Amino acid sequence: MANVIGEPLDRVDGHLKVTGQATYSGDWNIPNITYAALTVSRIASGNIVSIDTRAASQVSGVLAVLTYKDKIKLAADPSKVNPKEPAERVIQILQDTRVMYAYQPIAVAVAETYEAACEAADAVSVRYAEKKPSVTLVNGMARSYIPEKAGGAGDPGQSHRGDFKAALDAAPVRMQEIYTTAFHTHSPMEPHATVAVWDGPDKLTLYDSSQGIFGDRKRVASLFGLQLDNVRVICPYVGGGFGSKGPTWSHTVLCVMAAQRVNRPVKLVMQRPHMFGPVGCRSETQQTISMGASNDGKLSALGNDTLTHTSTFDEFTETATGPTRMLYSSPNNSTVQRLVRSDIGTPSYTRAPGEAPGTFALEVAMDELAYKLGIDPVELRLINYAERDEDKNLPWSDKPLRECYRIGAERFGWAKRNPAPRSMRDRNTLIGWGMATSVYPARRSPASARARMNADGTVHVDAGSQDLGGGTYTIMTQIAADAVGVPVKSVTFRLGDTRYPETPVSGGSQTAATCGTAVYEACIALREKLLSLASLGGNQTATVQELMARSGQPFIEAQASTEANADAKTMSCYSFGAQFAEVRVDVDLGQIRVARMTGVFAAGTILNAKTARSQFMGGMIWGISLALLEKDAYDPQLGRIVNNNLAEYLVPTNPDVGTIDVAWVQDEDLHVSPMGAKGIGEIGITGSAAAIANAIYHATGKRIRETPITPDKLL
Ligand code: MOS
Repeated sequence: MANVIGEPLDRVDGHLKVTGQATYSGDWNIPNITYAALTVSRIASGNIVSIDTRAASQVSGVLAVLTYKDKIKLAADPSKVNPKEPAERVIQILQDTRVMYAYQPIAVAVAETYEAACEAADAVSVRYAEKKPSVTLVNGMARSYIPEKAGGAGDPGQSHRGDFKAALDAAPVRMQEIYTTAFHTHSPMEPHATVAVWDGPDKLTLYDSSQGIFGDRKRVASLFGLQLDNVRVICPYVGGGFGSKGPTWSHTVLCVMAAQRVNRPVKLVMQRPHMFGPVGCRSETQQTISMGASNDGKLSALGNDTLTHTSTFDEFTETATGPTRMLYSSPNNSTVQRLVRSDIGTPSYTRAPGEAPGTFALEVAMDELAYKLGIDPVELRLINYAERDEDKNLPWSDKPLRECYRIGAERFGWAKRNPAPRSMRDRNTLIGWGMATSVYPARRSPASARARMNADGTVHVDAGSQDLGGGTYTIMTQIAADAVGVPVKSVTFRLGDTRYPETPVSGGSQTAATCGTAVYEACIALREKLLSLASLGGNQTATVQELMARSGQPFIEAQASTEANADAKTMSCYSFGAQFAEVRVDVDLGQIRVARMTGVFAAGTILNAKTARSQFMGGMIWGISLALLEKDAYDPQLGRIVNNNLAEYLVPTNPDVGTIDVAWVQDEDLHVSPMGAKGIGEIGITGSAAAIANAIYHATGKRIRETPITPDKLL
């Protein structure tokens, strides 16, 4: 059977999507459905003094308006989270009068139509006792604390090796600068959406746009005191998540409450402006990078002291220090994550949480050091190449990063670069070239899958999981076809239902390696069952159908449960890459255009050349966004995001994106998964913003250490 791993197979769900037949969570049409809309708070901190629902209740078609006054009892405390579930967040579901961030849900209107629900939600009248909110990092150091554990992997909140301070003081070349990145709100195309359907008092079906249907099931079952088996979560398609759909947020639980109240199915699709608060964000970061080096460029001290926000009621750390801990060799190293409690919705996982802003600061600082020393930026990175993970003190599972630099430089034409700033010009346009390193952890956690061979030779493979749009359906189909040894067209892969075998949250770029390994093992086990049928004798060239007939069974099934990556205990597993960018800057107006980018990645076996290219490219384009456009603009007095809509919250559109050249090195990492594959959903955004910022310096001679880099900062 031809090996289909790596083939640029079209998305198996592509036709359904472009013809509008893929059922997203808001698309489910359930008989007798009703609609819910949220009332959200106008203040960021304080208390509700009174809430008047009379006008709302009189809107034609309204069935119920729920507020804290309803005293809805839950089986568990929503302000408690299980520390073993890193995606669990404290949520706000009408339990009291406290307001802890702007756009916090404070009432839910349910009506016969979506329009009536929205009108009623807007008609809820609220009086507040308002406190002055705090939403900035200004003077944050004094107010901050260091978390014990940080990020989804529970890494320590600080790290130290050698004698950082002494080495920094003694270094012949020293640098210390502060780099800041802005608040981001994920803004997937598909808003968060839930449909809740009760079947009697103790059985629930949830259609929820989720990156983790099993986490959803656990959280909802616990809050409503239901048996796990009595809660079914269904989510065959997700229209983008980027981390924002990892936790079970307030709206999902409010939708379930509303359905309980009106005793009918309820659909709650979040309005775009309401998504700027209650469903996570990427915290802004303020990173102080310190470097001590010899005159020939060898780092003797490297540090990152990072300040980010968490909320007043929960803890989440944007682990921007991660790359500073492990990306370069430095005997003396110190990193600290500091958190400031602010009156915001709890920040959460956002594509490459930690590494995206973390590589911006570190990789711009490396460029600054390269200029200070007169060393080529690629050369400086090779001088400080880490041969092992000095943070974990482990060997790498696989690190062909030198190849990424070499191939990237070659494809981009880096050798032709004149390093002097403002040395490249086309009439009124300054041209700049910059580069940076990409890095992201390669994770694999426990998962399970089931594979079935039917009498007609078709194969059905099921695993809970989720496809955020990145291509999970397609790569799982390829892994299954390859492992069973049948054509791709014989395989149907299903996901997005808690009735299928359990898999974890689709986050941390772990799905390809995690769900993929379970699918691979289940399919290998199925293949072995088939081979043992063949060995029973008879025609040795029997077709699958003949083998199945010989078995006398309607189908043959195999199941696999796979563990977390055991090799990760003795090896450090990461993906790597190198990115190069060319910017063109209008000399008079400071307008910036990213003319072209090259990204070369080492991420293990590439399972599908087409979906992989899109994943890398999508990440790189988000890098353009991080560098030039994206920012939640908070009003510091009101504590509200004023650009809470897609007209004013800027993300790149086609004219903002130049030529994107994506490549990868030949690679296979059998320490991460039996397919040799690692995840690729997030690494593309790492390093890309720094490459652009470095190119802007090369073009203009202006070093901007704050994103987004807007024209006013260049003038
Ligand atoms: Mo990703 S931010 O861990 O969904």
